[in-house]
Amino acid sequence: MSENPNLSGPIGVFDSGFGGLTILDGIRRKMPQYDYIYLGDNARAPYGTRSFDIVYEFTLQAVQKLFSLGCPLVILGCNTASAKALRSIQQKYLPVAAPTRRVLGVIRPTAEVVGTLSRTRHIGVLATEGTIKSESYKLEIQKLYPGTTVVGQACPMWVPLVENNEFASAGADYFVRDSIEKLLAQDSLIDTIILGCTHYPLLLPKIEKYCPPHIKLVPQGRYIAESLEDYLHRHTEMDQRITRGATCQYYTTESRTKFRESAAIFLHEDVEVERITL
Ligand code: DGL
Repeated sequence: MSENPNLSGPIGVFDSGFGGLTILDGIRRKMPQYDYIYLGDNARAPYGTRSFDIVYEFTLQAVQKLFSLGCPLVILGCNTASAKALRSIQQKYLPVAAPTRRVLGVIRPTAEVVGTLSRTRHIGVLATEGTIKSESYKLEIQKLYPGTTVVGQACPMWVPLVENNEFASAGADYFVRDSIEKLLAQDSLIDTIILGCTHYPLLLPKIEKYCPPHIKLVPQGRYIAESLEDYLHRHTEMDQRITRGATCQYYTTESRTKFRESAAIFLHEDVEVERITL
């Protein structure tokens, strides 16, 4: 495929489902001037328990779709996709198939920030099973901040609680408390916890309830937005390729009705959405 290096278009934000809307929201608050396309692979979510190969295959299809919709830059707003697919896409796919386009993830920007927040240099990660098993946060943080201890705890029930609109229910308390206790039991010196999954900001009131007050909680939206802004300042050739119409289009692989209902919970606004296949 030969590419037009001046092709301009929106920033693509991809997630396995609705969770990436918390990332999109953070980015749009900071940089409302750009055009955006959000793509949720809701029909095949969750990705958190899927194998490396499958997450790569699905994520690549989504990136290709966002490229075909004109995006010169795609953010993998999903931690699981960032952990399992980003590296291969950056190193194997892009150089051959789309050398002028860029795909960025959410793990490195988060790792950069937590190292500056922790005083004890003991960091906890709450995330999906896939993200924890990949050890991506641990590897990335220890590369940037050698000598830091990083422990992780998978929270397999948290995404379903959010997806099923149960995140504020009394039943959610049990699962939130259980995962936090398991994380803290692994290392009593933890002073900073990464909420390493796009859905977890919706559980924040309950997470705060069960975390000791001296622990800093790090939801990602704000930091990903700061990191992207910094990236675009450093890469003016990419910045010039992003169109500035302050619009956002939404695409889902599942039902439009379900997407509209959930998007209203995540974004506090009604959105129009189109259904597509990958
Ligand atoms: N968006 C995913 C993440 O941030 C969580 C949902 C899923 O398992 O697909 O890891």
